[in-house]
Amino acid sequence: MNKLTAAITAVGSHVPNFVMTNKMLEDIVETNDEWITSRTGIKERRILKPEEGEGTSFLAIKAAQDLLDKRNLDPSEIDLVIVATATPDSMVASTAAFVASEIGATNAFAYDLLAACSSFLFGMSTASGYIASGKYKKVLLIGADKMSSIIDYTDRTTCIIFGDGAGAVLFEPNTEGLGLQDEYLRADGGGRAYLGMEGGGSIMPATIESVKARKHYIFQEGRTVFKFAVSNMADVAEKIMVRNNLSHEDVSWLVPHQANKRIIDATAKRMGLDESKVLMNIERYGNTTSATLPLLLADFENKLKKGDNLVFAAFGGGFTWGSIFLKWAYN
Ligand code: UT7
Repeated sequence: MNKLTAAITAVGSHVPNFVMTNKMLEDIVETNDEWITSRTGIKERRILKPEEGEGTSFLAIKAAQDLLDKRNLDPSEIDLVIVATATPDSMVASTAAFVASEIGATNAFAYDLLAACSSFLFGMSTASGYIASGKYKKVLLIGADKMSSIIDYTDRTTCIIFGDGAGAVLFEPNTEGLGLQDEYLRADGGGRAYLGMEGGGSIMPATIESVKARKHYIFQEGRTVFKFAVSNMADVAEKIMVRNNLSHEDVSWLVPHQANKRIIDATAKRMGLDESKVLMNIERYGNTTSATLPLLLADFENKLKKGDNLVFAAFGGGFTWGSIFLKWAYN
């Protein structure tokens, strides 16, 4: 029997209806469209409005349902639901368990996976490991984040970057050699000084003082994170290419985390890739953290061809980062 690999066989996505443009942000903080566009590549982002009272699971369920509808899949066939997220519905109770129940994945176990902006990338490794073991046949991996729930809309250095969204992919066994081929995943805990959220965890549970001091919002030392992101994302993408004897001509698509267009451009340049091979939608969604990679797959699904060589790359809080080489499995 041929070796079992884990292939992506379906995708789905969901973004909230409300569009927050750069112009709208000009009314909220001291910024301007020209600065945001030239420094980040972002023009607008989607926001799940707080008054709607919905959390990350709402986005995840919609993305999963989109996938189930497109694929006409019976959810009771799913073995495992992983929700990759940095913004779970709440502490303790698994968001994925709720999502699995709501979509009718009655035979699945479920859990969340948290690795900041690398959550989905690391989730691809996890999901494919379960499939390649031969134990499970259908793993639903969802990347979903309601970043607006942890953004300080008085802080111009973070509020311009992030948006809300979700994407879902199905991993299934493949015996044609398609699917996940190789991965190089990294972490460096020193990064938590530069990007994170001080309040709300076990070090600093919520108090009146912590809320007043705005400790329950993301902080980022942008310039430092930028430097680490540029060099590390390019390093791992290059490493995956070298390790798999991939020339720039062999790579069909770069699927990069959407944090800043300048980081994406630097990664593509190091790989020797023309812009036409780089999947990008940062201008419409900003940085949706765990959702950037599956949203790209959903948006560009009809461009991807069976056998295409995809190189994924991401960098995020922790720090966490890495690259994955995957052969696309369907037209
Ligand atoms: O996804 C997880 C990983 N995160 C990332 O990869 C993000 C990495 N970092 C970045 O993308 C960039 O650092 C930012 C987009 C966050 C910031 O861009 P930058 O080119 O690094 O700007 P900067 O922080 O060096 O700031 C340059 C100037 C500063 O003014 P002075 O000190 O030169 O007078 C800032 O105060 O731009 C100012 N500035 C702004 N101006 C207008 C900062 N934010 C804004 C803003 N509008 N929104």
